[in-house]
Amino acid sequence: MNGTTTPETSEPSVLRVSALTKRYESGTSWLSRLANGGTGTLTALDGVDLHVRPGEILALVGESGSGKSTLAKILVGSTTASSGEVSVAGEPAPARRDKESSRRVQMVFQDPYSSLNPRIPIGRMLSELLLLHKIVPRSQVRAESVRLLNLVGLEEDVLGAYPSQFSGGQRQRLAIARALAVRPEVLIADEPVSALDVSVQATILDLFATLRTELGLSILFIAHNLAVVQHLADRVAVMYLGRIVEVAETAQLFTEPRHPYTRALIDSIPRMTETSVNDGFEVEGEPPSPYDVPAGCRFHPRCPLASEICRENDPPLLAVGPAHESACLKAGELALIPVPNVPQEHR
Ligand SMILES: Nc1ncnc2c1ncn2[C@@H]1O[C@H](COP(=O)(O)OP(=O)(O)O)[C@@H](O)[C@H]1O
Ligand code: SF4
Ligand SMILES: [Mg+2]
Repeated sequence: MNGTTTPETSEPSVLRVSALTKRYESGTSWLSRLANGGTGTLTALDGVDLHVRPGEILALVGESGSGKSTLAKILVGSTTASSGEVSVAGEPAPARRDKESSRRVQMVFQDPYSSLNPRIPIGRMLSELLLLHKIVPRSQVRAESVRLLNLVGLEEDVLGAYPSQFSGGQRQRLAIARALAVRPEVLIADEPVSALDVSVQATILDLFATLRTELGLSILFIAHNLAVVQHLADRVAVMYLGRIVEVAETAQLFTEPRHPYTRALIDSIPRMTETSVNDGFEVEGEPPSPYDVPAGCRFHPRCPLASEICRENDPPLLAVGPAHESACLKAGELALIPVPNVPQEHR
């Protein structure tokens, strides 16, 4: 489990995970080996501590396979953790979610084409939820449905339509309306723009920003690269191989990253207006197998700063500044190396 010196336990949070671990046991048959890429125990999450403050957008960023969706699934109760705790608005979330605890944490999925039932018209989808959770009396269901549609930029005339009649971007709007219908404490958005055309991505990101401002919505926004969240998130948590390796306010993270992996993610953001400097912080190769997490610092096989101490010590997540934590033994050393590729807006 990661330790932390930041006194965050007293901070109000709508969502908090503590020492969360998820292991998958894999069979030893050749079929299982083929399907899973290894045998034995796969550690998808390894002692994750994280909290979302009321009304903030916390981004969770990391390469494919780092454990982001596993965390999201545990948060909405669609899979159980091996150990650790989840609490919502200060109350422990039960391992088996009941109607009320599942209402409190809602999810928007990556694939807008499979996340809505194609046989149910939009109006019925919303009204069933509103009635099931007793959000409004039956007489107000239509008005509430229209209000939800308007919130996500759609009009009343879509109530009778089916999901198949909508584009990917519009389906994500509908998925967001469905999630908001039950008035959740927190919204989990698992790569909600990754499957959309680039031109549509910005409009959906704007929608999340508007919802946060207008409704004070708390959002855990998952992405596989930093570029997507740089204008959206208040804070960013960076995940690597099942661990949070850095957390900071967004501007702080971009100007003073204190983990080489974060720094490499910043360097990999394409720049339109300035020349990117190659300063040796690219992350090359694939992440190690989660069946066989490297000893010491799990990032050491890919880290340009790695040395002997990194192979022998597993760095905990420690405070390196106000509201800034890093799991790097050389976080102080890294602070002395200026970041050449800081996006203009974060300077
Ligand atoms: N049901 C499962 N059974 C076995 N391994 C799984 C399962 N779900 C995810 N994994 C593994 O857990 C790791 C984390 O996966 P995931 O949470 O989907 O990562 P991300 O969302 O960051 O891409 C990966 O190595 C993945 O193969
Ligand atoms: S502890 Fe060492 S290997 Fe790990 S990120 Fe820091 S410098 Fe790199
Ligand atoms: Mg995922």
